[in-house]
Amino acid sequence: CGPSPVPTFFKDEVQQPPAAKPDAPGHYTLTAHVGSHAFHSDWPAVRTLGYSTPNAAVDYLGPTITTHKGKPIDVTVVNDLPAAGTPIFPFDQPNNNNKITTHRHAGLQPAPSDGSPEPIQPEIPPGASRTNHYPNDQAAGPLWYHDHDHENTSYHVYEGLAGFMPNTDEREENFPLPKGDFAKSFAIQDKSFNPDYTLCYNHANPEFFGDLPVVNGAVAPKQQVEPRRYTFTLLNGSDSRFYRVSLKQASGPTASAPPKMTVVASDSGYLFHPAPVDELLIGPGERYKVVVDFTGHNDQNWVLSNNAPTPLGPMDDVDPTGGGIPQIMRFDVGTSTSSPDKSRIPKVLPETNNVLPPEALLARSRLRTVQAGEATPGVPQLGDKDQLLNFLDPPTETPQLNSTETWAMRNHSPDSHPIHLHMVELRLIGRWHVGQWDANGKPVPSSIGPFEPPRPYETGPKEDFVSPPDYITAWAGTFTVPGASVWHCHILSHEDGASTGGAVEMMRPLVIGNTPQ
Ligand code: C2O
Ligand code: CU
Repeated sequence: CGPSPVPTFFKDEVQQPPAAKPDAPGHYTLTAHVGSHAFHSDWPAVRTLGYSTPNAAVDYLGPTITTHKGKPIDVTVVNDLPAAGTPIFPFDQPNNNNKITTHRHAGLQPAPSDGSPEPIQPEIPPGASRTNHYPNDQAAGPLWYHDHDHENTSYHVYEGLAGFMPNTDEREENFPLPKGDFAKSFAIQDKSFNPDYTLCYNHANPEFFGDLPVVNGAVAPKQQVEPRRYTFTLLNGSDSRFYRVSLKQASGPTASAPPKMTVVASDSGYLFHPAPVDELLIGPGERYKVVVDFTGHNDQNWVLSNNAPTPLGPMDDVDPTGGGIPQIMRFDVGTSTSSPDKSRIPKVLPETNNVLPPEALLARSRLRTVQAGEATPGVPQLGDKDQLLNFLDPPTETPQLNSTETWAMRNHSPDSHPIHLHMVELRLIGRWHVGQWDANGKPVPSSIGPFEPPRPYETGPKEDFVSPPDYITAWAGTFTVPGASVWHCHILSHEDGASTGGAVEMMRPLVIGNTPQ
């Protein structure tokens, strides 16, 4: 793919996805369909996928469904894609069965409603539908949903099957953080386009990196803001690309310092201590809610910039060109506020989440060792403490229901992998550097470095963890939802096993049951 046609950057105003309305009390319908969407106002509409609801036709991505703690909903997912075996995009797999399955990422839903891929859970063939039940018995957090079709997740998400599904609760509603018009969600993705502006995608590599930034379906857009505080939900909905974002001034009266950024929430809940950041690393699948304070920055333009390399090796590696995407979108600050800004960032946000603090989790944990590595260079896999395994090998991660586990993930591969578990709320415990590996791919104990605590912005509830090369990364949580789902790398090309045509996938079953193992 590429180079893509050169667009005018920061021309189009980024749009928020429409809010889905229930079609009956507590019931929503999402219809996955072939759409037609212009990624830039100077470009023609091209073929995409999207989820529509009866109140909103959406041709790329899906509407936002906001759920409330303690108020269950049902979502009927309808598959309106063409018949099995009909390629929708020239780059689709020839044997694409056009099945879908909608996974609500970070949701504690019953296993049959989780939307895990086959053969873990049945998928939805073209022409069929399924109703997923979401109890929403969990704290406020920036959840999202996306397709999870076995070996086609990367295609389907790239083509547009993803959306926001935040859960809220009374505590969040009372936080004094910016809300309403001053809270916005941005799905950040990278894409490549053919000379005729159609989507281009290359699935033969271990990773896919597009050459243009796309936010909520708009190439390099801008967002008009008032000189006040905003809450932004940043979702990395890319295939393989990590972003390390910061704000860089583009124009206007020279500022002495960039607008302050404070992380207030992560994947599945709020941070007890909001964390000020100058820059923020966001791996595929991760979400951060960030309060950005444009107060006093009247008439200035700020670019959300990126300096993460592609692929990302060590966690702090920097590429000033941002792996070809140094600029994502621009914030154009106006000169006045439409109403006084009464928001503030409390020093402490009373946690709305049920996940115990790390000390308490550790005290009651059993330790489980897992690994990421490459038996064949360029073909990453996951495994248990002894060996690398494939998706369909017998389950090895089988925690007992309601048990607490600490997973120590050792990564003996050259890349950072964002490792994600379904149907559980977790916390990062910390990391240890591994200086030397033995012949069996195990860390040489004397080479293990000192404990590195989570970075302040990583201390909140999470289920997707940056696991850097030559590190042991540890997280812990309590497995409260019974049944079978998956854990996997959220680099979608890794999870699908792109470079091997699906022969080796960076995904494993996760089976929560009554038999401790
Ligand atoms: Cu967001 Cu199993 O995925
Ligand atoms: Cu990976």
